[in-house]
Amino acid sequence: MAYSLSLGLLYLGLLCGNRLVSARGSELFTANPSRGPHFTGCRSREQETFRCWWSAGTFQNLTEPGALRVFYQTKNALSEWQECPDYTRTVENECYFNKTYTQIWTSYCVQLRSVPQNITYDEACFTVENIAGPGDWHTAVNLWFVY
Ligand SMILES: *[C@@H]1O[C@H](CO)[C@@H](O)[C@H](O)[C@H]1NC(C)=O
Ligand SMILES: *[C@@H]1O[C@H](CO)[C@@H](O)[C@H](O)[C@H]1NC(C)=O
Ligand SMILES: *[C@@H]1O[C@H](CO)[C@@H](O)[C@H](O)[C@H]1NC(C)=O
Repeated sequence: MAYSLSLGLLYLGLLCGNRLVSARGSELFTANPSRGPHFTGCRSREQETFRCWWSAGTFQNLTEPGALRVFYQTKNALSEWQECPDYTRTVENECYFNKTYTQIWTSYCVQLRSVPQNITYDEACFTVENIAGPGDWHTAVNLWFVY
């Protein structure tokens, strides 16, 4: 566990260099350098708020702020897709869902989109309990590949 976590961090560090604001440890699920835009993880520390992160991957033309946008839908009600309630200003590529937007026992789906091109690059679904931290690296990775 500790071994794979540090391997994972080393790997991420090698891949992303200084572009990651900081190593976020278990909040990061995976980063795949050969992929296009994708979510790198979602994490809830206390099940009251959560955050999702993404990477432009190989699409270096989509690294500008606003080039990729996050939309989400909850499966409880027949809700419309809505845009990320709060793009964190101080952290690159992070969407923050505060308490108002965080409901437990609710299925969330998030999509990573380029709005002008109307392209959805990635989608992930989870519940807040699924992504609760501090969590385990493997749990997180498995979750990510199972959705
Ligand atoms: C960005 O680059 C990718 C491949 O590198 C290309 O497929 C895509 O159309 C480009 N998108 C824009 C908005 O230029
Ligand atoms: C969550 O954010 C929205 C606007 O982004 C704000 O109106 C609301 O008061 C915030 N809720 C909490 C609990 O901070
Ligand atoms: C965006 O794409 C979706 C599905 O690919 C389509 O249903 C929708 O009409 C498109 N929206 C616009 C504004 O082109």
